[in-house]
This record gives sequence, C-alpha cells and structure tokens, in this order.
Amino acid sequence: MAQVYNWQLQREMAFPYAEQRPQRQIAYIFDTNKCIACQTCTVACKTTWTSGKGQEQVFWNNVETKPYGGYPQAWDIKLMGLLEQRWKQQVYAGKTIFEDPPAGDNVTGHRPTEEDYAYPNMCEDEVAGMVDKGAFFQGIHNVWMFYMARICNHCTYPGCAAACPRQAIYKRPEDGIVLVDQLRCRGYQECVKACPYKKVFFNAITRVSEKCIGCYPLIEQGIQPRCVVTCIGKIRLQGWLSKPGEAQPNNPIDQLVHVKKMALPLYPQYGTEPNVYYIPPLNVLREFLLQMFGPGVDHAVQAYRQAARDREALAAMLLFGNTPQIISTYSYTDTHTVGYNDKGVEIIRVPLTEPFVVRQPYDQQHQAYRLNTA
Ligand code: SF4
Ligand code: SF4
Ligand code: F3S
Repeated sequence: MAQVYNWQLQREMAFPYAEQRPQRQIAYIFDTNKCIACQTCTVACKTTWTSGKGQEQVFWNNVETKPYGGYPQAWDIKLMGLLEQRWKQQVYAGKTIFEDPPAGDNVTGHRPTEEDYAYPNMCEDEVAGMVDKGAFFQGIHNVWMFYMARICNHCTYPGCAAACPRQAIYKRPEDGIVLVDQLRCRGYQECVKACPYKKVFFNAITRVSEKCIGCYPLIEQGIQPRCVVTCIGKIRLQGWLSKPGEAQPNNPIDQLVHVKKMALPLYPQYGTEPNVYYIPPLNVLREFLLQMFGPGVDHAVQAYRQAARDREALAAMLLFGNTPQIISTYSYTDTHTVGYNDKGVEIIRVPLTEPFVVRQPYDQQHQAYRLNTA
C-alpha cells in the first residue's frame, strides 16, 4: 500500500497505488436545494448510454429521496454498518474503506443483490419524522426529506480501480474520468463490491462491468455531460477542480468548493476523494447532514444562506445550467456574470438580478382589468 494525500480528510491515507493526480480533474457541483426529482437527468443518461440488453435496471445517473430512498437499496447504510463494525464508533476520524479491510479484500465493501437494484424509486417522496395524527402542521418542522442526484464521482482514489485484480479500471490523465476497459475486464465484480457509491454495474449479458463514462465524447468537445445540460432545475455545473493549494478564485468550481467551501463531497469519510460536490440542503436534520457531507456542513449551509448578498458566490451560482459549454473561468460586473471557455472566449452572460415588470391591474389599452394580477 502506498501513502497518498487526501485533501478532503486533510491527512495521508493508504491506497494501493501511488498518488498520481490527472492534468485536470473533472468535477461537478449539484445544488440539492434546487433539485425537483423530475428525473430528466436520469432519462437523458439512460437513453444516451444504457438502453442495451443487460442494462434494464442500470442507472448511471439516479435521483433518490433521502433519508429512506437509495439505489441500489440502502447502499450507504450497508457500508456504514460495515465500517461501524470495524471502527466501533468513529465516523470522521475513522478509517477509510482502504484502511484495515476484511481479510482477503483490499477494500471494505458489499455487493448489492439483484433485488437491491429492482426498485430504483422506492421511498420516493417519503419524509422523515412524524406528524401526529390529526395534528396537521404541528411539529411540521421535524419533517424533512430531500432529493439527491447521484452519478459516479470520478474519484481521485477510486475504490473500483483499487479493487480490480485485472487493473481493468483506469483514470484518464487528461481529465480524471474513471473508465472500465471493457476488453480487460473479466467480470470479477470486485469493483461493484468496492465502489462505496455503487456506481459500477455488472452487465449479466456482456459479462463485464460498466459505469458512467463522464460523457467523455462531449467533454472532449468542450461540452458538459448530458445529465448536466438537460437538468431542468439547473442544479448542476460541470467544470474543472484545481489541485489542493492551487485553487483559482475565477474558476466557478474552485470558487464554490475551495474558496467559499459551500459545496461538499458526499461521504468523504469513505476516503475515495469523490469529485461530485453537493451544496447541502437547508432545513434538514443537522446530524444527518454531518454524517453525509462531513464537518464542513454548518459553514456550507451558512454560506448558501448568505449567497444572495455575496456577489462572488452568486455570480458563480448563476452560471449553473445556462450554457452547454464547459465554463473554465468567470468574472462579474455590477449587472452580469460572464463565463469563459478554456480559451478565454466569452460563452455565457447572465444577469445577476432577474429583470421583472410590474403590471398594473387595469389595462388602459383594452379598458379592462387584467386576469391573474394577484
Ligand atoms: Fe469508482 Fe465508484 Fe468512485 Fe465512480 S464513484 S470512480 S465507480 S469508486
Ligand atoms: Fe450519464 Fe454522462 Fe451523466 Fe455520466 S456524466 S451520469 S454518462 S449523462
Ligand atoms: Fe475488474 Fe470489475 Fe471487471 S473487478 S475484472 S473491472 S468486473
């Protein structure tokens, strides 16, 4: 085992391979507060990449309702149970999936059953907490849920790659996208067991594993992935995350992840250094968010609440969902935020404040009161 630096944990950790960061790292930010679970992303991905035989229950992109939903079922609870057994109590300062795995494995993990994949929307819209019978809105503040969109995290230290005995999974040096080499793969499924996010899928027809390819044919043309571009709620932004210590404040991903620390990795304690960053939901049980996004949650929620008055953050957030092209840098004026591609060419300009018109209830021209003027 090599020793590598995991900046999300702020410590060195054991990993089967030496630290080798790509020239640039693909990264995404998902704003959970804006997701409406319309599943447009899911369908866009499904129809683009996984409509073949053996892929009937495969969703490289899925959206689940937390706390009870999960695809495959209980993917995170099962791993936390396993880790808890091994750590006894610690959550954040505990060992990662690469440290102290069970005898015979080099990663702590579990393989979902077929049944676990069979009901991807189970518990959709189920809330946590109880409203007493007949109480109506009393105690409603105890009731919460949120939608969580999930894809492969194109981890810096991929559990899937660490576990494969064939070294059939690799991370592209040019963009950090993690791919399964379909010719090398022999279907051992150690990757399925090892990925803590359960984002590698075994295809029972082809007998090899498959996973999100980060829409690399689009990335290579400077276009954001399908799940990002099609998102109705404009919750997503894909771009490039700088190496730790090299953050560029004019890169919107760096700005929200490294500078404002508003977007956080999902279950950083697993140790893979995942590269999908989430703006945590407001009004959700704090303990749940701490477990899911780590100790930075209080700061992230506060930064999000202040974003309307924080021009730098707001300008980055308004770039979400407004252009299919990959935004490398941005700047802002008093009125607009402007995004540029990696050649420095302007590709998008968005007003910082939405223009609005106040309509008078009485329409002079038609000598009549307007409808819907409330
Ligand atoms: Fe591999 Fe899973 Fe990380 Fe994706 S999320 S790179 S499949 S470990
Ligand atoms: Fe699917 Fe592309 Fe999104 Fe991956 S990046 S989940 S392949 S749409
Ligand atoms: Fe390796 Fe997974 Fe294939 S463990 S051999 S990539 S099924």
